[in-house]
Amino acid sequence: MARSKNIDQTYLLTQQYNDGANLSARARLHILFSTNPQRWPHWVFDRVTDPLTALPPDARVLELGCGPGWLWAENLDRIPGGWRVTLSDFSDGMLNEARQNLRESGRAFDFRLVDAQLIPFEDAAFDAVIANHMLYHVPDRPRALSEIRRVIKPGGRFFAATNGKNHLREMYEIEQRFDPDSDYWDGFSVADGFMLENGADQLAAWFDPVTLIRFDNNLIVTEIDPLVDYYRSGPAQKFLVGDKLNTLRAFLREEMAATGAIRITKDSGLFIAQRQ
Ligand SMILES: C[S@@+](CC[C@H](N)C(=O)[O-])C[C@H]1O[C@@H](n2cnc3c(N)ncnc32)[C@H](O)[C@@H]1O
Repeated sequence: MARSKNIDQTYLLTQQYNDGANLSARARLHILFSTNPQRWPHWVFDRVTDPLTALPPDARVLELGCGPGWLWAENLDRIPGGWRVTLSDFSDGMLNEARQNLRESGRAFDFRLVDAQLIPFEDAAFDAVIANHMLYHVPDRPRALSEIRRVIKPGGRFFAATNGKNHLREMYEIEQRFDPDSDYWDGFSVADGFMLENGADQLAAWFDPVTLIRFDNNLIVTEIDPLVDYYRSGPAQKFLVGDKLNTLRAFLREEMAATGAIRITKDSGLFIAQRQ
């Protein structure tokens, strides 16, 4: 299985995350068909603001790879008044979307273009750093983790969200049944470099303790188009056109026909790591 696209910096910056369109197509599937009514950004924010994490009322918080800023846009009324929040991403287009999405928020967020491998802040600048579904895109993760540890105050927290190996398993199985000889699908949705199964070991080199909380959720998909849009949000985009796209639609209709839905496993979670 090719996984190079997942950390291919040119692909990520110029095609995948030049703006929020691909990510929005994927989020739409989750928003429409998740079995858990609680939205992911809300669930993550619950964990970040849990009294057990003990972030102070005047916490300085950095988000790496913020994308369109949904974590903050969807929790606006729950952000403690004294927090000073910096949203950052290595994609200019994404950062602009975050800026737009929070323009009328009434809060003063700071926006910075930052590669997680070289964080332009002084040592111990933050009470918490958040990396929500982004560490699997970072080629030199030890370097990023060392940078993250450096900018967190002693006693502060690092929150790192990712997926498990069974996440969206049925979507890959459908791909394989549809197109057994092709490898153009793989390489993007696979978070294999930093997963729920191997993330704790990587974090343990820099943080202690490290705990993992899983989000209980699945998908029951009852419409074809959002599923097709999801498939077309990755490297398969340029292959899924014309006749091929029509054949995929027909194939998915058949998959759905038997029970009226396609059931898809989700497995996402959040590591909470402490900086000693
Ligand atoms: C899957 S998206 C997640 C976006 C957002 N955190 C969310 O959950 O909605 C990954 C984000 O990480 C950013 N990213 C990827 N590699 C990065 C790096 N090395 N440094 C900073 N941001 C990066 C991408 O531009 C993209 O916005």
